Amino acid sequence: MSERSKSSAKSKILALREEIRKHDRNYYVLDRPEISDREYDLLFEELVALETEHPELITADSPSHRIGGVALDEFVKVAHRQPMLSLQNSYSIDDIDSFEERIRKELKDQAPVEFDFFCEPKFDGLAVELVYEDGLLVRAITRGDGSIGEDVTANVRTIPSLPLRLFGNSDTPSLFEVRGEIVMLKEDFKLLNETQQENGDLPFANPRNAAAGTIRQLDPKITATRPLMIFIYAPGALDGVSFAAQDEFEIRAAAFGLPTAGVASSDESFSKFKEQTLKSLLKNPSGRRKNLNLARICKGAREAKQYYEFINEIRSRLPFDIDGVVIKVNSFRLQNDLGFVARSPRWATAAKFPSEQAETVLEKIEIQVGRTGALTPVAVMKPVRVGGVLITNATLHNQDEIDRKDVRIGDTVIIQRAGDVIPEIVKVVVKKRPDGAKPYFIPKKCPVCNCAAEKPEDEAVLRCVNPTCPAVLKGTLKHFVSRRAMNVEGLGDKQIDALVDAGLILRPSDLYKLTAENILSLERQGEKSAENLLASITNSKKTTLARVIYALGIRHVGETTAKSLANFFGNEKAFLNADHDALVSIPDVGTKIAQSISTALQHGHIREEITRLISAGVEIQTSKAAVSGGTLLGKKYVITGTLPMDRDVVKQMIEENGGVVLSGISKKTDFLLAGENPGSKSQKAAELGVRVIDWETFQTQLSSS
Ligand code: IVH
Repeated sequence: MSERSKSSAKSKILALREEIRKHDRNYYVLDRPEISDREYDLLFEELVALETEHPELITADSPSHRIGGVALDEFVKVAHRQPMLSLQNSYSIDDIDSFEERIRKELKDQAPVEFDFFCEPKFDGLAVELVYEDGLLVRAITRGDGSIGEDVTANVRTIPSLPLRLFGNSDTPSLFEVRGEIVMLKEDFKLLNETQQENGDLPFANPRNAAAGTIRQLDPKITATRPLMIFIYAPGALDGVSFAAQDEFEIRAAAFGLPTAGVASSDESFSKFKEQTLKSLLKNPSGRRKNLNLARICKGAREAKQYYEFINEIRSRLPFDIDGVVIKVNSFRLQNDLGFVARSPRWATAAKFPSEQAETVLEKIEIQVGRTGALTPVAVMKPVRVGGVLITNATLHNQDEIDRKDVRIGDTVIIQRAGDVIPEIVKVVVKKRPDGAKPYFIPKKCPVCNCAAEKPEDEAVLRCVNPTCPAVLKGTLKHFVSRRAMNVEGLGDKQIDALVDAGLILRPSDLYKLTAENILSLERQGEKSAENLLASITNSKKTTLARVIYALGIRHVGETTAKSLANFFGNEKAFLNADHDALVSIPDVGTKIAQSISTALQHGHIREEITRLISAGVEIQTSKAAVSGGTLLGKKYVITGTLPMDRDVVKQMIEENGGVVLSGISKKTDFLLAGENPGSKSQKAAELGVRVIDWETFQTQLSSS
């Protein structure tokens, strides 16, 4: 390879990384994505393709290398430069007054008339320290015993919202150590446990355990499939930067691209703060983006107590678990004067919330059948309020859990909301057990199809193994049509149940054979809704290989793995012919996943389903860019005017050849493809010096790619 093409690959790679980091920031930090997911994926694929071609140009901070490294035998122990301490806990709101009194006494005449307290949620996860040297994330260490923790860098790097390099080029400190809490969002926890259950693995008790288990995974490939979040709340050792107060630190950390609780302006009144926080929660209920502005400077114990009450009120609506609020003296000078007692700072306190538990009676146990046939026992209880929500059901996971907790029908039980979402039985109040209550055993028969259930070796669940069990088919279909899979909009669970019950669907591909008469034959279906449903089924036909692979519901193959598989194989034929060696060579496919895919492919029904889907008119877009590349690779197009072909088709042609189509023109646009009556964009292109091409020139570009 010539030096010249190598240096052009290098500058292209650098530009792509910069661009991807910018979009990561727009998405995760600013909550203002400028491009579609598809456009982002294309940029990413282009980077991966170039790096595959030039492995010598790969660097640790490349966004494509979040997932990497081999599975470890054990974690390496590392010392913290400064010890990681813990907080004194208090359990009643009045303790906030005593906290203020204590520090006032300690500071004597230095104490201000009214303290500025920095208040933020107490995140319920696990603490880690991140070490950024010259802006690069070089190490992540668990708290451990406070002095020595474990090196979990490879796992922490997989957290998508965490920058591998701090944003901003001019003021990067040579050492920036920060401490924060790793958590799993309630929504992600729920999905993970469903997957655990379906895979026959034990579920996690709550999001904290799930986050801790994930970070302590020795194989970063597994960590990468389990989404984590992090919130930064304290500085560690620093060099080349200093702060006067906690709010200044958090605002700066956020400007470096680090996720924080988000500091709300303290100029606003407390009621305005409440109003704005509630609004931002409504706008971003999933919390996947982080600008919730949950932290605030509070004036004295008076406002800190209001803060505590407000956060307790909205606790169950937050997208992640918290177990209280942390109140810190904002000024670092005062913090310094106050110092520490034993292993806790005098300048902070953790005001914990009362636990969300309640007592009720277990009335019966029902068995649910999931898409993999897993039989899940569900406790049905006398309705009871926990943390403001009425609870009737709690999952019992499997027989082992029932045995371990010795749960029997008629028992009085203590329940709590695990991760605020899924209620669980904490324990049985044995002394209230009615006479004659017998241990419960999950029936060995599927309650839906009556077939014998099996318990595969090494698995904790019983499964219905009848491939035509209606419950399994219903579950499979619900997954198949879901938003991240085939995305058939407006096809609800009830309609799926009805379609299966009526015998109209025997396998997912049958969905594409449905006629208006079929749908109208169901109860409560009008012409209009049948028409809408058929339209969204048709819309879903144009899809990607990643979606099809995910939709097929192969065990252990989640969305991330499906994307990697699609990127690697490029088209369905190559995927169907995948062998074990090829599978394990893919960055985030371990042996367990590879085994599961090989088995699924050997069984033949996946092959048959894909063939059926294609003959029913499903068009699977291939990821050409990742495999071969073309001359349009990475080129940015804007389209204007009337072209000889439908715009969507032109867009697809560009994308299939590795280009990107954007809606607005800018200096970075490579080509303006102008049809007839081009309008104002042509003029703008001329002003910006963007090359305008006509349809013929575009055809030449395509044919040479
Ligand atoms: S500040 C000197 N802020 O609570 C310690 N800690 O019990 C300064 N935690 O180990 C810690 N949310 O894991 C601080 N907003 C927050 C926090 C927080 C959760 C955890 C942290 C710490 C534990 C102390």
